[in-house]
Amino acid sequence: MGLLSPVRFGPGRENIAAGLRSPLILPSSAEPTNATRILVVDGNQINRRLLKSMLRAGNHEFFEAETGMEAMDLIAAQPVDLIIADFLLPGIGGTELCRRLKSNRKTQFTPILMLTSVHGFDFEVEGIESGADEYLTMPLHPSVVRARVNSLLRHKAAIDSLEEAETILFALARAVENRDTGTGEHCERLATYSVALGLELGLPRKDLVALYRGGFLHDIGKISIPDSILLGTGKLTADQCKVMELHTIRGVEICKPMKSLAPVLPIIRSHHERWDGSGYPDRLEGEAVPLLARILQVVDIFDALTTKRSYKAAFTKEHAMEILKEEAAKGWRDPELVSLFVGMEHEVSLDSKALLDSDWPELSSTMHSLRNINRHLQD
Ligand SMILES: [Fe+2]
Repeated sequence: MGLLSPVRFGPGRENIAAGLRSPLILPSSAEPTNATRILVVDGNQINRRLLKSMLRAGNHEFFEAETGMEAMDLIAAQPVDLIIADFLLPGIGGTELCRRLKSNRKTQFTPILMLTSVHGFDFEVEGIESGADEYLTMPLHPSVVRARVNSLLRHKAAIDSLEEAETILFALARAVENRDTGTGEHCERLATYSVALGLELGLPRKDLVALYRGGFLHDIGKISIPDSILLGTGKLTADQCKVMELHTIRGVEICKPMKSLAPVLPIIRSHHERWDGSGYPDRLEGEAVPLLARILQVVDIFDALTTKRSYKAAFTKEHAMEILKEEAAKGWRDPELVSLFVGMEHEVSLDSKALLDSDWPELSSTMHSLRNINRHLQD
């Protein structure tokens, strides 16, 4: 049996792909399936076969790997729902495999069931600390294995549905932005600028990810603002301003149920606060305004100024910088952030047009690194 062959077990059906060597996708004869994908990583073929036979009653599609590196290659080409790995794998070993998978953004939530024939609490602790979600010591009891596998698969399904919900939320945020500004790329630019400024400040990855998401989600609360206020071209009345200001609070209410978005909530709530305390909704002042919200605010203003809108032409980058500096002088913006952003702009020629141009090789090496930001965040 090919170690990387997908092998599907189910009632009345066995091993339809037996003998195939390393196709990482289902053979064409296989009908579409909602089977959960389980990767069994074990250097011993008998163990792999035993495990699969224990789970054959379920609707599973099995993949096999003999070593940790084979498992990594397979997962890179074919995402799976659950990994069952032996503690004592040849090569990088089960614990190192766990560590690598759990430190990769794409696989960090893929559950891992670690199996071992080695007894001892120390090994169990080592396995769990390396990232394994469950740990079973041989001899295995089939009903225990099935119960643990089903439990882990339920957990994975819940995470998948959360990710789907998050995807829907981002699509919604983009639609809201389109309705407001009519510029589909505004969110992408904000996300990229914010991360660039965050990198300049040396912020940790978790903050960069929050900034990236905040670029998309900061104005999602505008979904609750009536067209007559959101799209009006005249000056808003005091009452209309109050309604408009609610978009910060509504945005938090929309995103709050999703715990994974917790780091983005301060950006959503506070991106209209001002350095001198004259902003909204909480009239926070100075460093009480969350740093990530201050960052997003600076780049949001810059992008709004340098982008053509229905009510105004696009300002030049230099003009936008002057306005930003004026607003900092008035006390509205964090002066250090503005000056950092202005300096960064001069250094890297970062402007919205350059970001939208596909002619990346013509840009500076710093811009290349900015271009790679998305890629890094996806890894
Ligand atoms: Fe806003």
